[in-house]
Amino acid sequence: MAKLTVKDLNVRGKRVFLRVDYNVPLEEKDGQMVITDATRIVETLPTLRFLLEQGGKLILAAHLGRPKGKREPSMSLRPVAAKLADLLGRPVAFVDDCIGEKVEKTAGALKPGDLLLLENVRYYNEEEANDPAFAEKLARVADVYVNDAFGAAHRAHASTEGVARVVARRGGPCAAGLLMERELKFLGEELEKPARPFVVILGGAKVSDKIQVIDRLLEKADALLIGGAMAYTFRLAQGHQTGKSLVEPDKTEVAKAALAKAKQRGVKFLLPTDDVVAVPVKTDKLDKKGKPVIDYQNVRVSTDLNCPADAAGLDIGPGTVKAYAAEVAAARTILWNGPMGLFEDKRFAEGTNAIARAVADVTQTHGAKSIIGGGDSVKALNKARLGDKVTFMSTGGGASLEFLEGRVLPGVAALSEK
Ligand code: 3PG
Ligand code: MG
Repeated sequence: MAKLTVKDLNVRGKRVFLRVDYNVPLEEKDGQMVITDATRIVETLPTLRFLLEQGGKLILAAHLGRPKGKREPSMSLRPVAAKLADLLGRPVAFVDDCIGEKVEKTAGALKPGDLLLLENVRYYNEEEANDPAFAEKLARVADVYVNDAFGAAHRAHASTEGVARVVARRGGPCAAGLLMERELKFLGEELEKPARPFVVILGGAKVSDKIQVIDRLLEKADALLIGGAMAYTFRLAQGHQTGKSLVEPDKTEVAKAALAKAKQRGVKFLLPTDDVVAVPVKTDKLDKKGKPVIDYQNVRVSTDLNCPADAAGLDIGPGTVKAYAAEVAAARTILWNGPMGLFEDKRFAEGTNAIARAVADVTQTHGAKSIIGGGDSVKALNKARLGDKVTFMSTGGGASLEFLEGRVLPGVAALSEK
């Protein structure tokens, strides 16, 4: 990477405006907002410690949720300040705004090695609009700009892009944090010239979410293994019945094109040969988002590529697991993004868990490099307690996918060259 990193900076006594991705899941418990997964906070600690040791005055900016310009109390970063103080074992100042006099005063009073977290930048519409005047206001407390928010780097927002431009215009440095540097290394450089065989495992609900990634990885990978509901769009493209499985009928041409490209390039393209299927039944219950809860009945393995008319495919079957695990076991480099089935329900989690075990195993016993591209596959690995058995897990969701598609992320583009 030709981008400046925090290791190239001298931050002693300087105000470092540090963009982090603290968009963490929260749950209300007894009237309090509680962080249910602090991974994104934990992963920034090396950058924070490094900059604090160097005598920087840290001003952290982040977003939480999508408050759309409103002061939504459930999306306050205050609980994150408390968690951060806990993790660092030192006080973290908090201001209930991200611009204005109070922010400037508090930032001005920081001593080298002090730390301040600002309130949710998305409480202002100007953040997502990347409003130049708003970026100027944020930049009033920035001598140096550091971006460690890989997970938000696909957004050209004021705090991820605009502020960097302001700081750079003034001649100040804009650098990648240590987490950002690691993300770019593993999702970027490491996959440029991978040790072979390079096996890519892609899952998740929709072909449309992954098609660009598939297209790009077909140029690099030796094998692609497909799971999750998106496999059924491929089945449909091959002329099979998909019953009540989640499919995108308007994406069958795209699926066919991917199959043709794989064939032409000599890339192994594996689709499930058996499935765990069940009959979905709507219930009166509503989930957290107000959607009817679906009950799944008559769960069974089906080896028929035609899904029964009343059933949906919800996980890869044991035969597929065996074939995919064998590919994984022979791999030297693995990239995995997206679960193999509806893993939140344990009746449909075995495919995802078995792949997780296979990936962890080849990493541990054969020194393969395993890179997990964020989102649900990270959740699944953590759930299976295998998170520390792989080489790298991304903190990005949408950002990881866009980066893997080969797109330039605005938050990265705005950083200074070395
Ligand atoms: C994420 O969780 O995907 C990032 O923090 C970015 O959030 P966003 O998708 O709301 O922009
Ligand atoms: Mg997102």
